[in-house]
Amino acid sequence: MRKKFIAGNWKMYKTFEETLSFSEEFKKSELPEDVKVGLMVPYPYLDYMVKAFKDTKVLIGAQNIHFESEGAFTGEVSCKMLKSLGVTHAIIGHSERRQYFCETDDSVNLKLKAAFKDGIFPIFCVGENLTQREENDAFPVVEKQIRKGLYEIPEEYGRNLTIAYEPVWAIGTGVNATKEEANEMCSFIRNLLADIYGKETADEIIIQYGGSVKPENSKELLSMEDIDGALVGGASLKADTFLSIINYKKL
Ligand code: 13P
Repeated sequence: MRKKFIAGNWKMYKTFEETLSFSEEFKKSELPEDVKVGLMVPYPYLDYMVKAFKDTKVLIGAQNIHFESEGAFTGEVSCKMLKSLGVTHAIIGHSERRQYFCETDDSVNLKLKAAFKDGIFPIFCVGENLTQREENDAFPVVEKQIRKGLYEIPEEYGRNLTIAYEPVWAIGTGVNATKEEANEMCSFIRNLLADIYGKETADEIIIQYGGSVKPENSKELLSMEDIDGALVGGASLKADTFLSIINYKKL
């Protein structure tokens, strides 16, 4: 049985002071047993966050990685470094990195391979932009991102994947995909994964939806059969709002 996995992506928000007060508040709350919870935070706060959430179920992750374990790559951070801090997860291939930092399907593939090699669980992001959706290209676009991203990644790694379907037009816009649109794409992704890794493995892989997830829409999205969680941007920045999403069953 797949467990729901709800992760916050803080992007480039929060000072360290704000991180401290979020953590204090967040730590006070009891989290539901049947939901995996993660916080993907800016690099400078990772060490603090790993320590702050050490004896809790909250998983701490980064938002990007370099695909080499070490080397002369000024300004970059490797999975080996993250692992040595106790970080467990990293977002790979977020659309903002594809759009603003020249991330390609090929570099995403290298990064996914590096994450598995060095023991970091990736949250692999895919999703079409508005033009692609309007031109009925959403499914081929996502298929290409998945097939190229997972190129030569064996099943024993693949089964530890988390995929986040994040339509670019829904990110930060306040306009989420409908529960039917999101579920349809997550189900399409699961069929693709079955083609790549076999049905048994595909049925184990967590597929999140991301894009304007908030307390108001989390219950309906997360109740869908193929939506196994959420990657939450803006609404993860405030502890009480993020906690409402995590406790969506009570909404
Ligand atoms: P928003 O929830 O702010 O739309 O961001 C989604 C996202 O990009 C999470 O990775």
